[in-house]
Amino acid sequence: MKRREFLATVTSALLLPRVSTATSLDYSLIAEPVSTKLVPEYDFVTDMLGFNGSMPGPVLSGIQGQPLRVNVTNHLKEGTAVHWHGIRLENKMDGVPMLTQDIIEPNATFTYDFIPPDAGTFWYHSHYNSQEQVARGLAGPLIIHETTPIDIDHDINVLLSDWLMTQDGQLSEDFATMHSIAHAGYMGNYARAFFSQPAVQKGDRIRLRLINAATNRIFPLSLAGANGKIVALDGMPLETPRELGDMVLAPAQRVDLILDVTDTVELSLLTGQGGFSLGSLAIEGENTTRTTSDITALPQSNKRPMRSAERHLTLSIMGGAMGGRHNGDNVWALNDVSDLQPAPWQNFTRGETVKITLKNDTAFPHAMHLHGHHFHELDDNGQVGDFRDTTLVPADSSRDILCHFDNPGKWLFHCHMLSHAMGGMRTWVEVA
Ligand code: C2O
Ligand code: CU
Repeated sequence: MKRREFLATVTSALLLPRVSTATSLDYSLIAEPVSTKLVPEYDFVTDMLGFNGSMPGPVLSGIQGQPLRVNVTNHLKEGTAVHWHGIRLENKMDGVPMLTQDIIEPNATFTYDFIPPDAGTFWYHSHYNSQEQVARGLAGPLIIHETTPIDIDHDINVLLSDWLMTQDGQLSEDFATMHSIAHAGYMGNYARAFFSQPAVQKGDRIRLRLINAATNRIFPLSLAGANGKIVALDGMPLETPRELGDMVLAPAQRVDLILDVTDTVELSLLTGQGGFSLGSLAIEGENTTRTTSDITALPQSNKRPMRSAERHLTLSIMGGAMGGRHNGDNVWALNDVSDLQPAPWQNFTRGETVKITLKNDTAFPHAMHLHGHHFHELDDNGQVGDFRDTTLVPADSSRDILCHFDNPGKWLFHCHMLSHAMGGMRTWVEVA
């Protein structure tokens, strides 16, 4: 299917925008309980949460620079809010209760209205009681297309997650045990990848957008059945595409691949006991008209000028099991402070470029995510590396990032292992 046909086809997983004006794409999302056949091999259906009757939520697609409006209606028994992960949007549309908006109460609707400035692979998820609401299924892909289509036969997104299931095929209610919060977080005993379409043709060139929507699991991945390159990380195009090898996706991270299909495309989770298949794309027929060509970089329309740091700050990640902090629910801290305080960790002047050392003094890896911005990872020699919105900081090590704070507002900065965030590993900054 060509990209144009993809945009014009209605499947259960794809929601078409209703074009209300010449320039705005309109969607409606209803957060509600759903029953899903989560494990395809078994007969049971699992009670979960979803959007518009579907878990994961429908694919929302937009176009770079074109306004997007999403009416979110809450049909849950508790409040909610939706965050548009990785989008550099206006602060009041960021979906963070207490910081940027009020909770969307049951039966209420909140309209999110923003212009996505970057093309790329993003996602949306609940940002209220999120270690539980996301684990129950309140997440979906948010795909912002380039204004000029990329030369591919299929644009496919793949949402990965894991769930802790009981013998009778239901979700365990252990979303927030103190033990998991203080260790690696709520971890599933079942994992799966949801592909936005089931099959392709042999010989197709496809774009595969992988999204880690798990609350806590880091996915080491391998892919079989295709040759290709890595072309983007966290929605941001690489200047030079990279050879495809095994990949590691921390919670909330994304990777875009351009692939030439040679066989059934199989995505596997690498474990100590070998690969565990998360899902696949079947082969139906052969594409005989596709002519092979080099895989080149995506349009560099997200590029921003590099600046050097005017300030250097350190954020120490502390706590957890063996970390000696047992202060009620807050077993984690950033610079000795747990959870959101009335004042921000830092105030930044709009336009300021800051180097931040993320010093992980704990026995666990953490996936640190800054809202409203992307930042550069710096290597040990201070060389500028990947441009991301979520960086994985291994246990007992540190990572420097360089951030140009150009988006005014109140922005959360937290661990995207959502159990850790709930255990206090959250702070915020203000840009004015
Ligand atoms: Cu995707 Cu504050 O998070
Ligand atoms: Cu963490």
